[in-house]
Amino acid sequence: MASDSSTPVPQKFAPSADFSAQAHVKTVAEYEAMHKRSIEDPEGFWGEIASDCHFFKKWDKVREWNLPDAKWFVGGKTNVAYNCLDYQIEKGRGDHTAILWEGELVDDKGEPTDVRKFTYNDLLRDVCKFANALKKMGVKKGDRVTLYMPMVPELAIAMLACARIGAPHSVIFGGFSAQAIVDRLEDAQSTVIVTADGGYRRGKIVPLKKNVDDACGMTDLVKTVVVYERTGNEITMKDGRDVWWHDAIEGCADTCEAEHCDAEDMLFLLYTSGSTGKPKGILHTTAGYMVFAAYTAKMVFDLKPDDMYWCTADIGWVTGHSYIVYGPLQNGITTIMYEGAPNHPDWERFWAIVQRYKVTKFYTAPTAIRAFMKQGEELPGKYDLSSIKLLGSVGEPINPAAWMWYHEHLGGGTSPIVDTWWQTETGGILITPLPGVTETKPGSATQPFFGVDAAVVERDGTVLPRGSNGLLVIRQPWPGMLRGIYGDRDRFIKTYFSEIEGVYFTGDGARFDEDGYFWITGRVDDVLNVSGHRMGTAEIESALVSHPRVAEAAVVGFPDELTGEAICAFVTLKGDSEASAGLKDELRKHVATQIGAIARPKDLRFTDALPKTRSGKIMRRLLRELATKGRVEGDITTLEDLTTIAAMNTKDEE
Ligand code: WTA
Repeated sequence: MASDSSTPVPQKFAPSADFSAQAHVKTVAEYEAMHKRSIEDPEGFWGEIASDCHFFKKWDKVREWNLPDAKWFVGGKTNVAYNCLDYQIEKGRGDHTAILWEGELVDDKGEPTDVRKFTYNDLLRDVCKFANALKKMGVKKGDRVTLYMPMVPELAIAMLACARIGAPHSVIFGGFSAQAIVDRLEDAQSTVIVTADGGYRRGKIVPLKKNVDDACGMTDLVKTVVVYERTGNEITMKDGRDVWWHDAIEGCADTCEAEHCDAEDMLFLLYTSGSTGKPKGILHTTAGYMVFAAYTAKMVFDLKPDDMYWCTADIGWVTGHSYIVYGPLQNGITTIMYEGAPNHPDWERFWAIVQRYKVTKFYTAPTAIRAFMKQGEELPGKYDLSSIKLLGSVGEPINPAAWMWYHEHLGGGTSPIVDTWWQTETGGILITPLPGVTETKPGSATQPFFGVDAAVVERDGTVLPRGSNGLLVIRQPWPGMLRGIYGDRDRFIKTYFSEIEGVYFTGDGARFDEDGYFWITGRVDDVLNVSGHRMGTAEIESALVSHPRVAEAAVVGFPDELTGEAICAFVTLKGDSEASAGLKDELRKHVATQIGAIARPKDLRFTDALPKTRSGKIMRRLLRELATKGRVEGDITTLEDLTTIAAMNTKDEE
């Protein structure tokens, strides 16, 4: 990380005069006045913003707030797919490319073999066809449809088709295993699942349909499985349950009236990890999410009609929902979708894509940037990246060295970088620079977006002044905020609205600096962030103890140069089991099978006992110290049995 030590990092980077001159928001004074109004008069502010969207029936009231329940655009009727498609076509964008998709496969010259372009007209037609197919299968407004698909255009088409008929979708990341599918299906009580025969990842086929079959073997909930043919690998189709996508749309009309959804009708569920138990179904509704996704995308990425915008996230995460599909399409621009891995066939793939399509706005994660840094700056240096006007970062804190590398080697030293802080729960970006305005500081997500009343507080709710570290809270509702955890009102209140009274608690810590900038310091709960992916320690622990030889397990995160945080598991075995290298591998694999490869512990250590307090609580702080430094030096006065740590300190598992 040369740039941290050899080149002193200037404190701030101001946007170039050229960029500011053409930006939606041009000056600090403008930002400040707009932000002030958005906080003091949220109804006036958001009412005006929402007037740029299409409503079948206008709302009666912009906002209703009875903590913890927010309602936005109350009484309004709209449709998110209509706003993404029909409304864009009405505005003259019908022949403009909406989705430009590149598959992972390449020929022997390294050129992509699958490229598909969908204009807004094309996309509307395909969405309508699939919407009609869903209806034919009996899917009705309010029914939850599960989508477990590779990164193909049909995933976006299926989401929009669901939105069109008012059937909430629940997208499950294609890297999750059968057990993870079952948990989500059952929680959502979803009877229809859309999948593919397989998906390509690093040149290999991910057996999606097989995982669905395994999942269906564990629950009898699923009545219909729609299978999109992508890889042509051999699969079994079950009579009466499974239907090919191409057969399902056969004969379906290519128009389908958009459901007039209530502003607060459920738009989607997206499962994410919490600090306890199973993943929670974060519930988003229609109008507020729609307006917030559209407006944040427009302002944060400074979208303009000719942008070639590329967000490298997977649609299985919230970033893909808001900033591959719903945000960009509502701005009538071209959103690029890439199917595969950044290193297939080699580490130049992303730069080849940027050059090929003259990408103007590029949004990725710090973990990817660090992986590229490792490969050397020569790789991006071989390509013409001069089309890039703006860079974005999301998912975890970006370390200053990665920020500087991004700035120099991709941004040509001039493109603004927007480090965007947000969560599955927030629906869209809450803390971020505005690219034409904000002087950025490498490592800081900077300032709150419009309508966002962020503060750093103590546990008792005391608001802290500039120059303090504390817990990050949001004090007023914003249109894109979650409306609940599906089927679990108590958990919703407990997780977000009870630890700190009267505000939304993010679960993150932050520093609020002398200039009023926010620096996110990471989760303060038992949630890990591995490569920008959220994992609950409790989820991984319960996967481990589901193995017949494990008695007890505790999982902690430790710093990792590449993935930000890595997983370390401490495991005690049942009486007659012997610790061995073979068992270690087996247990790591077991977690991958139970949850997915992203949850596989990087490090796994056997121990005779876990360090606990007298009240029986596992002392994670000590385990974190062990995982990070190899030994515990901190305060152990509350430990029940001092010999456990003594034994762990002397035992070297590596
Ligand atoms: C972390 C992803 C620092 C944070 C959109 C948050 C970040 C969690 C940033 C949400 C950022 C996300 N800087 N940390 N720019 N963006 N995070 O739900 O800990 O997958 O609470 O949403 O990621 O992860 P989620």
